[in-house]
Amino acid sequence: MRDYGSATTLWTESLPILRADTPGCEQVIHFNNAGCGLLATPVLTTMLEHLQLEAQIGGYEAAAVRAEQVRGFYTELAALIGGRPENFAFSGSATHAYSTALSSIPFQRDDVILTTRNDFISNQIAFLSLRKRFGVQIVHAPDLPEGGVDVEAMALLMRQHQPRLVAATHIPTNSGLVQPVAEIGRHCRELDLLYLVDACQSVGQYPLDVDEIGCDFLTGTCRKFLRGPRGSGFLFVSDRVLAAGYEPLFLDMHAAGWTAEEEYTPSRTASRFEEWEFPYATVLGCAAAVRYAREVGVEAISQRTPQLAGRLRAELDAVAGIRALDHGSQLAALVTIAFEGWQPAELKAAVDARGINSALSFRQFAQFDFGDKDVDWCLRLSPHYYNTDDEIDQVVAALTELQAPAYSKSA
Ligand SMILES: Cc1ncc(COP(=O)(O)O)c(C=O)c1O
Repeated sequence: MRDYGSATTLWTESLPILRADTPGCEQVIHFNNAGCGLLATPVLTTMLEHLQLEAQIGGYEAAAVRAEQVRGFYTELAALIGGRPENFAFSGSATHAYSTALSSIPFQRDDVILTTRNDFISNQIAFLSLRKRFGVQIVHAPDLPEGGVDVEAMALLMRQHQPRLVAATHIPTNSGLVQPVAEIGRHCRELDLLYLVDACQSVGQYPLDVDEIGCDFLTGTCRKFLRGPRGSGFLFVSDRVLAAGYEPLFLDMHAAGWTAEEEYTPSRTASRFEEWEFPYATVLGCAAAVRYAREVGVEAISQRTPQLAGRLRAELDAVAGIRALDHGSQLAALVTIAFEGWQPAELKAAVDARGINSALSFRQFAQFDFGDKDVDWCLRLSPHYYNTDDEIDQVVAALTELQAPAYSKSA
């Protein structure tokens, strides 16, 4: 493994190296890492080399040649967030990993899914769909006045409802809120409740430990703060769940063996949550991305990235006409702002035109959160460790200029 230095030297001496490893840094100010991080050269090279090998010797043959490196996807993830390689499944997206996990739970009418008001939009839609089909009940734990779920109230709801599933999103897509997933997990373990965590925005940004979180399932993507390729996700499945025989609704020839005419046997590992067909270049790119994150050091990343975002948030909030929307006792590197006097698409286009990557979030993404905040949309800026203080200054200056009366557009 490469060593980029100690936490003290990393962001001074190694930052130029990390930026030189990131070709996109020369093109744009990339503040859309919550959408998709910029690929590092070792990740890009790994993927390109595999595609070349596929073209030269054939796709199946290339996969056979790279079997050991493909296994690296599982070993790297286990080294990053705990568990054993056998506890991980590759998936084409975090949402696919999530719905595959949900499909393994034999829901019955009136079973309760206990979740939070800040769980990810697609997870909330999946719960509503389960309610439509199976008649499950969805209970949302209340928030604290300062933002974030009230864990004690959630624990009371656990005791009251004995939910079939407890689900929490660590960091939602629509704000910088960090939910206390390990505290929720402690209650789940105490009460022996099935616990599913969406760690899409936290993996690669904060150190995670599946044992400390106490989760049965955990989903993530490689494309955001892990800086891996698009079209990738993963599912962690605990030994408890594997031993209890949970299996997705549809298993294919990779997930199970057709062991007799009338019988199939699910795989003993989390591969029972995978499919036979793999985008091998992507899987290898993910392994390289996780390895790269570990080489940089996730602990050091978790110190720098939210801190850069904190400065951005505070400076933008001080600009008249801009309001930071993030609430909570701990805030991640997702900065969401309300921006007076502009329509969303026009603002985004104006920000794009200044060479700054950002994203828009709409009420539809976060019915509870945006309802509580009484906003219909916001601009989301999400820096990563490879961004610089100078880039923060440039983004603040650009948004301040756009907020100046000369630029304001009638809403
Ligand atoms: C919190 C959260 N969960 C899940 C997802 C979905 O990930 P994917 O697009 O890989 O399905 C996202 C994507 O933005 C997210 O922010």
